[in-house]
Amino acid sequence: MRTLTIMTPLALLFSILALLLPTSQASPPPPVVVCRSGNSNCTVTNAYGAFPDRSTCTVAAVAYPSTEQELLLAVSDASAKKQHMKAVTVYAHSMPKLSCPGGPSGQGLVISTARLNRTVSVDTARARMTFEAGITLRALLDAAAASGLALPHSPYWEGVTLGGLLSTGSHGSSVFGKGSAVHEYVVGMRLVVPSPAAVDGYYAKIVSLGESDDDLLAAKVSLGVLGVISQVTLQLEPMFKRSVTNRVVTDVAFEQTISSFAATTQYGDIVWYPSQSIVVYRDDAKVPVTTVGRGINDYLGFRPQLSLIITSIRAAEKLAEDFGDANGKCVLSRLQVGTLIAAGFGFKNNDGGFLDFTGYPVIGNQSDMQSAGSCLRSAEDGLLTACGWDPRLRGLFYHQTTVSIPFANISSFIADVKQLRDANPSALCGTELYLGFFMRFVRNSTAFLGKTEDAADIDITYYRSRDPLQPRLLEDVLEEIEQMALFKYNGLPHWGKNRNIGFLGMRDKLGAKLDKFVGVMRRYDSEGLFSSDWSDAVLGLNGKEVVVEGKGCALEGLCICSVDDHCAPEQGYYCRAGRVYQEARVCRKSSSVEEADGMTESA
Ligand SMILES: Cc1cc2nc3c(=O)[nH]c(=O)nc-3n(C[C@H](O)[C@H](O)[C@H](O)COP(=O)(O)OP(=O)(O)OC[C@H]3O[C@@H](n4cnc5c(N)ncnc54)[C@H](O)[C@@H]3O)c2cc1C
Ligand SMILES: *[C@@H]1O[C@H](CO)[C@@H](O)[C@H](O)[C@H]1NC(C)=O
Ligand SMILES: *[C@@H]1O[C@H](CO)[C@@H](O)[C@H](O)[C@H]1NC(C)=O
Ligand SMILES: *[C@@H]1O[C@H](CO)[C@@H](O)[C@H](O)[C@H]1NC(C)=O
Ligand SMILES: *[C@@H]1O[C@H](CO)[C@@H](O)[C@H](O)[C@H]1NC(C)=O
Ligand SMILES: *[C@@H]1O[C@H](CO)[C@@H](O)[C@H](O)[C@H]1NC(C)=O
Repeated sequence: MRTLTIMTPLALLFSILALLLPTSQASPPPPVVVCRSGNSNCTVTNAYGAFPDRSTCTVAAVAYPSTEQELLLAVSDASAKKQHMKAVTVYAHSMPKLSCPGGPSGQGLVISTARLNRTVSVDTARARMTFEAGITLRALLDAAAASGLALPHSPYWEGVTLGGLLSTGSHGSSVFGKGSAVHEYVVGMRLVVPSPAAVDGYYAKIVSLGESDDDLLAAKVSLGVLGVISQVTLQLEPMFKRSVTNRVVTDVAFEQTISSFAATTQYGDIVWYPSQSIVVYRDDAKVPVTTVGRGINDYLGFRPQLSLIITSIRAAEKLAEDFGDANGKCVLSRLQVGTLIAAGFGFKNNDGGFLDFTGYPVIGNQSDMQSAGSCLRSAEDGLLTACGWDPRLRGLFYHQTTVSIPFANISSFIADVKQLRDANPSALCGTELYLGFFMRFVRNSTAFLGKTEDAADIDITYYRSRDPLQPRLLEDVLEEIEQMALFKYNGLPHWGKNRNIGFLGMRDKLGAKLDKFVGVMRRYDSEGLFSSDWSDAVLGLNGKEVVVEGKGCALEGLCICSVDDHCAPEQGYYCRAGRVYQEARVCRKSSSVEEADGMTESA
C-alpha cells in the first residue's frame, strides 16, 4: 500500500507527460518470425510475444512470396511434401495460436504475407478495389483515399492486414446496412489452395471466387484453414466524413438504451466504466465530404508511448496486484480515464496541429477517423518509444475477453454485471485501465463463421501476470462475467481474441453454419495441411479440445476450474460457484470479503 501511494503521483506525472510529448517517432514492433539460419529453423509468435497457453511455435521454415506465382510455388512445394502450413502476417495481431502450423512441431512452414502488400486494381466507376491480402489496413485506407474512396467499416486498429482481419471476422461498430464486419464488403477473392494431385505441374491451385459464389461465405471468414488468401476485392464508397462527439453520462439504466442507441447512431459505440458508474456514448454520424473539418483519430492508446511510461504504468498495476490493493487500481483508473476524456481520447480537430483536441464535434474524412495506430507508423528510435504492448518492454500484458451478446439479451447481461459490481465496487477498476467494457455493434452474417444474430460485441481487457501460476486480484469476478457472457447468454467469441475457454462449444453455437464451413474446408484442403490442433479444437473437430487441464489452468482461462488445484489453493484461491450466475466455476480467494456475505458456495 505504502509503495502505491508513491507510485500514484508518479503515474499521474507520466500520463501528463505522455500527452504533452510531441512524439513523431516510435520503434516498429519486432519481427514475429525469427529464424536461426536464413529462413529456416524459426519460431513464430504474435504481436504480444505470447499465446494464451504460452506455448512456443517452431517451424522448419518461412517463405516470403512477393507475387501470386511465388505464393503458388510455396504452397505447391509444401503440399507435395505433405508439409503443414499457415499464413503469417507482418505483425500477427491475433491473440490465439492461429498462425502456428499443425503437424509435428518444428516441421511446418509459415508463409508470410508481408511482401504481398500492393494495390492490384481500382474500378472507380463501381467503387471497387482489389488488394493483395498482406496489405495493412492503414496502407489500404490511404490507397483508397487516394482514389477518393473509403472503406465503410474496419477495425479501430490500423496495424492489421486485409487477409488477417477477414480471417477472424474483424469489425468496427454499426448495425446500419450490412453492419460493421469488413467481410460484408468483400465482393471477390483469390485463394491459393493445396492440391493432393498435380494440376498443371503444381500441387496447388488458384481459386477465384466472385460475389455470388457460395464458397465466398466460407472464404470471407476462414481462420486461415482453407489456404492462403492472395487477393481481395472490396466494395468501397465515395469518400465521406464522420462527425464524432463523445458524451459522458451516468450509467443508471444505460443498459436499456444500448439497442436504441445502436439503431439510431450509424457509427456509435459505448464505453462503460463500471466502477466509476459512467458511460461514454460515441455519437458518431456519417456526414457529407463537403462538411468542414480536418479531424483525425489518433487514439491515445495506439500512440507511441515513452518506454519509461509504459513500464511505469505496468509497475504501478503490478504493485496493486502484489499488494492486493484493489482500490489502488481504482485510483489509477480514475486518473487515466479522466485524462483520456479530457484529451478527447486522442481525437484531433485539425490534422495534428499544435492544439490537438479543441472540442467536439471532431469532423474528418472516414479514412482518418475510422482506424488509428500512430505507434506503428514512424521511424526506429532505439525503443525510446513503442506501442504499449511491445513485448520487448516489460509493459502492458493482458488477457482479452471479447464476446458478442445478442441485442435481445444485452440489457440482462449488463444488469447481471451491475449486481456483481455493486457487491464489490472496486473489483472492476482493473478493466478501466483498458477502456472498461467496450461495446461495439455487429450484424448477423451469411458468412459461415460470422455472427448468427445482431449483437453488441463487448471487449474486456485485463491484467495478465507474467507468471502463469500467479492469480489475479479478485479474478473470480471477471471469470464469472466471462462465463456468463459465453454460456448464460450464449455469446460468440471474437476469433482473433479471447482465452482458450472462449471457444468452448462453437459447434453447438454455430450449428449448421459450422458444418457448412467444414464442408468447404474439406473440399479446399482435403489433407488438412492448413489445419492445426488449435483450429480443429475451436471448430470442434477430430476430438481436439480447447481446454488444457492442469495445475492453475483456470488462472489463464485454459480451463474452467472443477477442482481447487485448477486455481491456486496454496495462495488461497479455491474453485467456487458464481454469485450471480451460479453455474459459473471461478477461482476465488477465500479470505476476501465475499466469504462473509453469507452466499452458499460449492467446491
Ligand atoms: C491493438 C489491437 C486492436 C484491435 N482492434 C480490433 C477492432 O477494432 N475490431 C476487431 O474486430 N478486431 C480488432 N483487433 C483484432 C484483430 O483485428 C484481429 O486479431 C485480426 O485477425 C488481426 O489481423 P492480422 O492481420 O494481424 O492477422 P493475424 O493475427 O496474423 O492472423 C489471423 C489469422 O488469419 C490467417 N491469415 C492471415 N492472413 C492470411 C491470408 N492472406 N490467407 C489466409 N489466412 C490468413 C492467419 O493464418 C491466422 O490464422 C485488434 C487487435 C489489436 C492487437
Ligand atoms: C534448429 O535449431 C536448434 C537449436 O539451435 C538445433 O538444435 C537444431 O538442430 C536446428 N535444426 C535444424 C534443422 O537446423
Ligand atoms: C510493403 O512492404 C514493404 C516492406 O516489405 C514496405 O516497404 C512498403 O511500404 C509496403 N507497402 C505498402 C503499400 O504498405
Ligand atoms: C478528404 O477526402 C477528400 C476526397 O477524397 C479529399 O479531397 C480531401 O483532401 C481529404 N481531406 C483531408 C483533410 O485529407
Ligand atoms: C435471451 O433472449 C431470448 C429472447 O428474448 C430469451 O428467450 C432468453 O431467455 C434470453 N436469455 C437469457 C439468459 O436471459
Ligand atoms: C439477420 O436478421 C434479420 C432480422 O432478424 C433477418 O431478416 C436476416 O435474414 C438475417 N440475416 C442473415 C444474414 O442471417
